[in-house]
Amino acid sequence: MERGFVLPRIGTAEDPVRIGVLISGGGSGLAALLKHQLQKDCSHKTALVVSNRDDAGGLNHARDNLVDSYVIQIPEHQDRVARRLQHEEEIHKHLISSNVELVVLSGYMRILSPWFVRQWKGRLVNIHPSLLPSFPGANSHRDVLAAGVDRTGCTVHLVDEGIDSGPILAQRSVNVLPDDSEATLQDRVKEVEHRLYPETLDLLCSGQVTL
Ligand code: GRF
Repeated sequence: MERGFVLPRIGTAEDPVRIGVLISGGGSGLAALLKHQLQKDCSHKTALVVSNRDDAGGLNHARDNLVDSYVIQIPEHQDRVARRLQHEEEIHKHLISSNVELVVLSGYMRILSPWFVRQWKGRLVNIHPSLLPSFPGANSHRDVLAAGVDRTGCTVHLVDEGIDSGPILAQRSVNVLPDDSEATLQDRVKEVEHRLYPETLDLLCSGQVTL
């Protein structure tokens, strides 16, 4: 049977679970998480932000909130497999040296290798902008509109070795409107994501989710 969430320990306001957030882009999800963590009874805190891109807007949110952040770019290496492994080893080293207990993917646009997933299995979560298992992959909003469905949403799930395939922790739905474009749909789904992800992390870190 699939192993579920592995709670590092119960986080408290005095000693919150230390989260490492991986980003690649604008980081609106990171900004929402950092804002949520300002609440005084929050059971988790962002200890570290890692971006694989130096132009990721989310890095500014980390800096504004005085959270350590690192840009770890893909090394220039001939061999794709070696390049990926070296990149992930570097990220892993930073997570370990910052005493990170739970890794949160927030718009991280690379597929993690089975090696990295194994290091963090049960303590690696992602948010995906669709109601999984429907519309996995990088273009969910486009795929939702092309399919003509009237409901989509977002899913928080544990990451396994597949693509958007790990055990589902929480979902929330959003109506698709007749005149939606990818951009309007993305904006409305993000609004919901920005509440669902921090709330799900609250449940995980305070020991209220057992898989
Ligand atoms: C979000 O929609 C998230 O679900 C997806 O990537 C997007 C990231 O947006 N994985 P942002 O960088 O947090 O604004």
